[in-house]
Amino acid sequence: MNKKRVLSGVRATGRLHLGNYLGALKGMLALQDDPAYDCLYMVADLHAVTTPYKVEELRVNRREIIIDYLAVGLDPEKSILFQQADIPQHGELTFYFSSVMTIARMQHLPTFKEKVKQYPESATMALLNYPILMSADILMYKASAVPVGLDQEPHLEIAREIARKMNQVYGLDFPEPARFKTKGEYVPSLTGEGKMSKSVEGSYITLMDDLATIKGKLAKAPTDSGKGSLNELPGGVSSLLKFVQLFEGEDKKKFYEEAYQTTGIRYGDLKKELADAIYKDLEPLQEKRRELESNPEKVNKIITEGKEKASLIAVATVNEVKEKMGLL
Ligand code: TRP
Repeated sequence: MNKKRVLSGVRATGRLHLGNYLGALKGMLALQDDPAYDCLYMVADLHAVTTPYKVEELRVNRREIIIDYLAVGLDPEKSILFQQADIPQHGELTFYFSSVMTIARMQHLPTFKEKVKQYPESATMALLNYPILMSADILMYKASAVPVGLDQEPHLEIAREIARKMNQVYGLDFPEPARFKTKGEYVPSLTGEGKMSKSVEGSYITLMDDLATIKGKLAKAPTDSGKGSLNELPGGVSSLLKFVQLFEGEDKKKFYEEAYQTTGIRYGDLKKELADAIYKDLEPLQEKRRELESNPEKVNKIITEGKEKASLIAVATVNEVKEKMGLL
């Protein structure tokens, strides 16, 4: 049987939050249980050095995300779980791929421009290469399905361009990867502006937040008087209603929408109920995580085995590319 290969990754810039969980991980979990797919899930630690970062935090995060993966149910028996920097071929393939992409093309990507605005002093070559490195992650394993958020579409376009060029110019057989849509993918920021993000303080709830922390974060989410027209919902209220929908269901959301137009929403009650619902979903993951934390040897073994499995494929791909490019 010809299985479709799936690859996804999370940037190792912080711990996983609800946005990662509902936006990407739920989809990743569904795919690992689908016999039509072979899945590889990576911690994108090399991508973390494309913007300013703290060395000791990265050292911790690249391991913690593997533990988060395991806690949410990614299973090393079913999927290959690995850390990108453990496989030196990612950097190597990025260099080969960079020979078919122009500087102009890379500079015009909206994701690049955004980051340059965010870190004007740190528009490094690594940042410019970010999408090429991501393309190397995907094409290294000849993955055709990539479960990521909509914001990653420009990067997937680069991966497809690289695949086409490498195939045309060097006669390789890279598939053109497509984004794999998963359910519930848009998780808004608690601040009411944009999506939940590790890099925006006050925007996220981590998978390890306890009930009191979740309550505290929700308490800070901006609201209004509780009454008005649904057409003019402020961002903060619209975010809260989205969370209600995700954790308490469509009917509950409708109930609050109705209240907004009539009797008014009591945000204190809404937030308390919502915090309970979110925590109820997170509790089993947190328990699993504590179990893993008390067994570092087991985690080490999983990381080593993931590295060995990913390595076998990566070495083969890089050899093939070097051979076709005249470097072997
Ligand atoms: N750029 C992705 C993000 O920010 C993370 C990532 C790195 C990734 N390499 C990948 C996602 C390969 C999918 C496949 O979400």
